[in-house]
Amino acid sequence: MSTRNTKPSILAYPAMLWITVCFALLGSYQFGYHLGILNTSLYWVTKDLGLDFTSQGAVIVSAVVVGAVVGSLFAGQAADALGPKKALLINNAWLLVGTVLCAAAPGGYWGLLAGRALAGVGAGAASLYVPRYISEVAPISIRGALATLNQAFICVGILVAYLVGLPYQHNEPQTVAVASHLVSWWRVMFLFGIVPAVLQAVGLLFTPESPVWLNWKNRRATALYNEHRLLGSLWREEGEVDSTTNLEEPLQEQEAAEEDSGLEGGWGALLKRRYRRIMILAAALPILQQASGINTVVFYSSDVFAKAGLDSPVLGSIIVGSVNVAGTLLAATLMDRAGRRQLLLTSQIVMAVCLFALAVSTYLPLSKVAEGVVSLIVVMGFVLGFSIGSGPIPWVYLPEVLPNEIKGPAAALCTSLNWLSNLIVGLTFPAMLALLHVGGAYLVYAVLNVLGAVFVAALMVETKQRSLAQIQAQLLHLD
Ligand code: GLC
Repeated sequence: MSTRNTKPSILAYPAMLWITVCFALLGSYQFGYHLGILNTSLYWVTKDLGLDFTSQGAVIVSAVVVGAVVGSLFAGQAADALGPKKALLINNAWLLVGTVLCAAAPGGYWGLLAGRALAGVGAGAASLYVPRYISEVAPISIRGALATLNQAFICVGILVAYLVGLPYQHNEPQTVAVASHLVSWWRVMFLFGIVPAVLQAVGLLFTPESPVWLNWKNRRATALYNEHRLLGSLWREEGEVDSTTNLEEPLQEQEAAEEDSGLEGGWGALLKRRYRRIMILAAALPILQQASGINTVVFYSSDVFAKAGLDSPVLGSIIVGSVNVAGTLLAATLMDRAGRRQLLLTSQIVMAVCLFALAVSTYLPLSKVAEGVVSLIVVMGFVLGFSIGSGPIPWVYLPEVLPNEIKGPAAALCTSLNWLSNLIVGLTFPAMLALLHVGGAYLVYAVLNVLGAVFVAALMVETKQRSLAQIQAQLLHLD
């Protein structure tokens, strides 16, 4: 009996697959939590530690992104050497030490900075390990959906960070009693970060290592055994092609092709002509994700919602965060049907249209109330647009298109480019606002989103419903 071209019901997969995915997602959750935690608490952190809100506060916020650039740069080779699961498990050491240092902030500013940078190393590395691990354990028919959960859990992490910041909904305390309680609440917020780190480190002890990685390391028997644990009755005997698995014949064809060409993996290999098309695709999507302007909008949402008449900026952030989670869950249901290309194209167009509308609205003679309502709708539309494509797809796509022999360095390079672009957007946005004002600044991002749409339409190759080996074999033969 063959299962080729059939899509098994989600319930047909063994519990081990879901347990594995859930423990992996705790990495995405931690990424989001560390990204979002200072959104609501920064004012109080700086107040408590006697720091300057603007200059030192900005450094504390971006330290996590700097750490993530470094963490993701080394994560590729760690995943290659140890296996994505083991690398993800050990990664919790950075997150744990970073979290505890942030909460304790020994010596004030410098202790906190060190903690943020270490947590950033863990978040950056997790941004590589989680999508890779999930895409390598996932059955083909639901790989897009499962890999999209990575972004969904990043958004959940951000949202939970906003929620635990609810006591900070007013920047100034109403009473002295409230003030003293709030001053140290941020430390408790950081301490909450210990829970997912410990849970993940323990949980991953019991989940199988990636079959794709084991197979690549010539541990075929263990690879097949693990594939069996993950797919249960949907698994097929070796030699039979099963449309639900990633260990199939095209992989061997591909390996034969590599042997023929005598190619070695490693950083140098990324420059080979053979990988040019793959590298352009893999590097462009994470950069386009940041060039969408998402992190400026998330950052700016408080102001927009304040204008719209909401007197709690934290509540505004929670609304934006919820739209992001809901849209990403919607994307998970569409990813394996509509496909990556169509969703990303739609996403780029929706974001461009919303940002044009936001830019234009700032030049119209609108009343304060109308301006607030327009920006509220437009920002929610933008975030929805982001969440159905540009948010999840770069993370889904990277481990799909990168062949095993360059996956380590290539994923490291592309992931760190994402974090680097994130840093550049964060550092340049205040200057853009000063020079071009809100309208001009968002016009720039609108144009970047149009360019992104053109890139996707012209060059992106669809990957839905195909095994990793098939995708990579096709891309390798495009040039
Ligand atoms: C993506 C981006 C990240 C952003 C987040 C917002 O994961 O990589 O920079 O903050 O989405 O949802």
